[in-house]
Amino acid sequence: MTGSKITIADLRAVPHFSADVADRVWRAWWKPKGVQLQHIAELVGESLGGGPMPAAFVAHRGPTFMGTASVIASDMEERPQFTPWVAAVWVDPPFRRRGIGGTIVGHAARAAFAAGSDTIYLCAVPAKRSFYQRLGWSLHEQDVGDHRLDVFTLKAI
Ligand SMILES: CC(C)(COP(=O)(O)OP(=O)(O)OC[C@H]1O[C@@H](n2cnc3c(N)ncnc32)[C@H](O)[C@@H]1OP(=O)(O)O)[C@@H](O)C(=O)NCCC(=O)NCCS
Repeated sequence: MTGSKITIADLRAVPHFSADVADRVWRAWWKPKGVQLQHIAELVGESLGGGPMPAAFVAHRGPTFMGTASVIASDMEERPQFTPWVAAVWVDPPFRRRGIGGTIVGHAARAAFAAGSDTIYLCAVPAKRSFYQRLGWSLHEQDVGDHRLDVFTLKAI
């Protein structure tokens, strides 16, 4: 299917995008720390399993990968009591600022709620605060951990 419609899909339905998800997540967050791509590919592979979590979502137009977000059990070692998290939010640069990031975050959040959570979490650098607040996320804590991240919550309606 190569139509012009942008689709948000569970990675289980479009597993051929697994390498794109791993590549983007690795480049953005793990390559600078010296982590091997293969390790991230294995973590992404866990989102192809049977349970609701971990899960990865992909924004694509036909064969074109546009972005991704995940739902994972734990994203911050300083806050092990919080779960689940929307994480690894990425949109390829040519497709930014047209609502795809907001849409895919919302999609991941709804999947987490559908799996039974009534509160979900997300951490981000302060530069992204207005982006997530505009999407309805509440700032729960700031300056957490070495990277001084914001922690947000979103509650099921
Ligand atoms: C953060 C990121 C995922 C946002 O993706 P995106 O697809 O550009 O997100 P959206 O288009 O939904 O929103 C981005 C901005 O564009 C604006 N926007 C959305 N649609 C728009 C449109 N049609 N015209 C103009 N602006 C628009 C939004 O209001 C938003 O503004 P804000 O940043 O001031 O809140 C993307 O920039 C990215 O991948 N960055 C690198 C990785 C990263 O930082 N990830 C987040 C980790 S916490």
